[in-house]
Amino acid sequence: MKAGFLQSYLEAFPSIQGFFTFDAALMFLAYNQLIRAQGIAGDVLEIGVHHGLSAIAVGALAAPGRRFVAVDLFDEMQDHNESRSGAGNREAFLRNIHCFFDNRDFLEIFAGHSNKLNAEKLGSQFSFCHIDGGHSPEETYRDFDLCSRILTSGGLLALDDYFNPSFPGVSAGAVKFHLEKNEVLKPGLLDSTKYCFRNVPLKPILTLPSRPPSTGCLR
Ligand SMILES: C[S@@+](CC[C@H](N)C(=O)[O-])C[C@H]1O[C@@H](n2cnc3c(N)ncnc32)[C@H](O)[C@@H]1O
Repeated sequence: MKAGFLQSYLEAFPSIQGFFTFDAALMFLAYNQLIRAQGIAGDVLEIGVHHGLSAIAVGALAAPGRRFVAVDLFDEMQDHNESRSGAGNREAFLRNIHCFFDNRDFLEIFAGHSNKLNAEKLGSQFSFCHIDGGHSPEETYRDFDLCSRILTSGGLLALDDYFNPSFPGVSAGAVKFHLEKNEVLKPGLLDSTKYCFRNVPLKPILTLPSRPPSTGCLR
């Protein structure tokens, strides 16, 4: 992260087109700092980068030497934007990212529908994922499922627009995922625009012995 990153980000914020709040950026940074203190640091992913407003914050959460995977349909594939949520622009995205990161070797751009991503190729060393791409129930469910597979234990997932009545598909997809795989991602902190979850796989509370203990009572 460049020196003075937060101040420059705050100053540039109003001039970058997007759908993100500075409060949410601070929440991402603070929450990430908490897991970093527990030794959890890795790759980061954002689905739906648009012009890069939130991507600047997400990119800053990548651990040194790790990747920032940035996903969007960008200009050329907007006919696949099922829920009409924003419209990514690769040129604007790159211009904005370039202002904040001197070394862009960590950036991996995936231009396409997020349903073309797969956990096997991405790996499972992600410490932070932000879902802000397609807003239909199906897209949200799929993106949630993908992130649950690629997040490292203790990693964070932030979901956009859970409470936005203009996009009821987001909560519908998230609730469906929760009902079907409810213990994979634990709900945590939230603000008015983001709902954060943590990947905390449940450990069995009780481990049954493979065979009954021999007490001699049944003889
Ligand atoms: C609401 S905007 C993202 C806003 C952005 N995070 C910001 O901070 O301003 C949604 C973005 O997701 C992209 N998108 C929509 N559906 C998608 C999909 N299925 N896969 C990948 N990107 C998608 C759109 O092109 C758009 O740029």
